[in-house]
Amino acid sequence: MLTLAVDIAREAGEMLLAKRPPRPEVLATKSSPTDIVTALDKAAEELIRSRIAQARPGDAVLGEEGGDTPGEGAVRWVVDPIDGTVNFLYGLPDWAVSIGVEVDGEIVAGVVNNVPRGQLFTAEKGEGAWLDGERLSCNTGVPLDRALVATGFGYGADRRRVQAEVLAQVMPRIRDIRRSGSCAVDMCSVAAGRVDAYFERGTNYWDHAAGGLIAAEAGARVGGLRGWPVHPDLIMSAAPELFEELRDLLIPLDPDHD
Ligand code: IPD
Ligand code: CA
Ligand code: CA
Repeated sequence: MLTLAVDIAREAGEMLLAKRPPRPEVLATKSSPTDIVTALDKAAEELIRSRIAQARPGDAVLGEEGGDTPGEGAVRWVVDPIDGTVNFLYGLPDWAVSIGVEVDGEIVAGVVNNVPRGQLFTAEKGEGAWLDGERLSCNTGVPLDRALVATGFGYGADRRRVQAEVLAQVMPRIRDIRRSGSCAVDMCSVAAGRVDAYFERGTNYWDHAAGGLIAAEAGARVGGLRGWPVHPDLIMSAAPELFEELRDLLIPLDPDHD
């Protein structure tokens, strides 16, 4: 299934690169005027769904644009056809096709195809995380005050206000912040040691299904805030010691409220 996921993510990536006009048009908005969808988000998800249906009819699919399509067996594909749509719109390079494969409710394989950079990240449960044939391991031994921390912001104005307030408390305690604009890319950046940690409020399952496995298979802890598993209220990822330091910084700041 990982091989199939890789093939499909490559094909969708090639289609998106070939068909992306210089200025893609916003087709619709979702949760807020800045939460956008382009025609190519939809076209890519349709392509991914049709390839899954051809190869594995009967599997369930959860996709950002098309919702939850029930299946007949234990397998469900979790798809974000473009994670980082705002980057896609503006021609910035951090957007990715993200496909996770869930078996009995657990993600067991994932691919994040960061198309403009030509970088394809994969992971299989228990088999490590890989970037173009090279095994990945997250940074270890980085104290919080030296940590380069990725984060993201929601699309709603009220939530962004709270996120900025939390950030004002975090910034003086860390090396610096990075905001790529793609949760899937952020997770892969943790896996590849390009950042030391990542946290964000309000992500959806399809944002981190594949990237979360890639980070975990690279040795990072991936979880929620108060000993919880990953949750839309907050997702964090970092090497285990840094995860704890960052969590202890975040908890009193209440970053999971609006
Ligand atoms: C978004 C990106 C972004 C994150 C948002 C997501 P989209 O996904 O992952 O980095 O901050 O929370 O919704 O809308 O580009 O698929
Ligand atoms: Ca997304
Ligand atoms: Ca998306």
